[in-house]
Amino acid sequence: MRAALIRETTNPDLDPGFLDLYNSVRARLKRLVGAEKGDLYIWVGEAMLGLDAAVANTVREGTKVLVIDNGVFGEGFADLVKLYGGRPVTLGLDWRRSADLHAVERALELHKDVEVVTLVHCDTPSALLNDLRELGKVVRSFGPLLVVDSVSAVGATEIKFDDWGIDVLIGGSQKALNVPTGLTIFAASERAWERFKAVGRGSFYLNPMLWKEMLDGRGVFPYTFSDVLLYALDEGLKMIFEEGLDSVYARHEAARRAARAALEAMGLQPYTADVSCTCPTVTAFAPPPGIRPADVRKIAWEKYGVMIAGSWGKLEDSVLRIGHMGVQASYAHLALAFSALGRALADLGYKADVGAALEAIAERF
Ligand SMILES: Cc1ncc(COP(=O)(O)O)c(C=O)c1O
Repeated sequence: MRAALIRETTNPDLDPGFLDLYNSVRARLKRLVGAEKGDLYIWVGEAMLGLDAAVANTVREGTKVLVIDNGVFGEGFADLVKLYGGRPVTLGLDWRRSADLHAVERALELHKDVEVVTLVHCDTPSALLNDLRELGKVVRSFGPLLVVDSVSAVGATEIKFDDWGIDVLIGGSQKALNVPTGLTIFAASERAWERFKAVGRGSFYLNPMLWKEMLDGRGVFPYTFSDVLLYALDEGLKMIFEEGLDSVYARHEAARRAARAALEAMGLQPYTADVSCTCPTVTAFAPPPGIRPADVRKIAWEKYGVMIAGSWGKLEDSVLRIGHMGVQASYAHLALAFSALGRALADLGYKADVGAALEAIAERF
C-alpha cells in the first residue's frame, strides 16, 4: 500500500494506461459487491460525496422517502432528503438492534407513496449492522428504490447488489478496503438510472449521468482523477482478492466475535444488543460507570500510542469504539487495542482482566 502511494504520479488525462486501470479496478469492485448487472463508478471525493449524489439524483421536490433510522448516519439521511426538497418519513428504530423487518414492512404498507428508502448497512458510530439481504427483499417487494450506505461494510462482508434488490450502493475507500480517504464508490441499478434521468438533477459534480456519458461514452474523465488514490485502491483490491473473499469475510467475522468476547471478559458493556447485529468492522461499548470516553481515549493515545475512537451525535459522551476493519481485523491488532484499553482503564481506576480478554481474542482467530 505504501509503495502504491509513493508511485510516480502521471497525468491521468493523458496516460493511455490510466483508463484501463480505472476500468480494471471498477470491474473488481463490481465483483466485490455483486454488481455485475449494475453500473459502478469510482469518484474522487470522500464517501459523503456518494451519499449526497445518491439523494440528489433520486429525490426531487416532494419525493416521499422512508428513512430507516437506527444509527447516526441512518438518521442523517433525513437532512439530505430535506436539502433536496424531499419529504422524509423517519422510521425511528432501536439503535442497538438491526432494523426490524416487520417495522419496515408496516411503514411501507402505511406509506404506499414512498418512492425511495434509505438504509445504512453498517452504522459505524454505533457499530450497528443491518440485514441488507432481508431488508432488500422487503423494500423490493413494495417497489421503491433502495439507497444503501455501505461505506464501512464494503470489503468486510458479503454484498450481492444485483440479487438483493439494491438500487444505489455507496462505498468509501478508507474503511475495509485499506486505502486512505478520498474515493467514493457509487453503484447504481438500471432502475436507479431511470430515476436519475427522471429527476434530472442540474449538477455537474453530483452527476452520475455525466460519468456514463463521458467515461463510458467517450473514454474521458469528467475531471482529472487522482492517480495516486487509484493506485492505492488497486493495491487494496489486490490484497483482498489475493487473500480470497471467504478468508477476508471470515477474518472480519472472527474480529467482531473476538472484540465482543474481549469486552465481556473485561466486564464492559457492548453497545449493540448481540453479536449478530454488530458491524464486522467496528465494536462499540460503554466505558465503566463514572469514566468519561474522552479520558480513556486521551490516555490510550498519549500514554500507550493506541487510538480508541469515541462516537458522534447523541452517542458522543457515552460510547467508545474499537475498529477492526481491513488488515486490522486480526489477532495482533485486537490484542494491542484491548491491552491499551485495559491499561488506560486501570489508570482511571477500573481494573479489568486483560489476560482473559486476550485469551478470548485468541480463541476466535
Ligand atoms: C457509515 C458511514 N457513512 C458515511 C460516512 C462518510 O464518509 P466520509 O467521511 O468518507 O465522507 C462514514 C464515515 O465515517 C460512515 O462511517
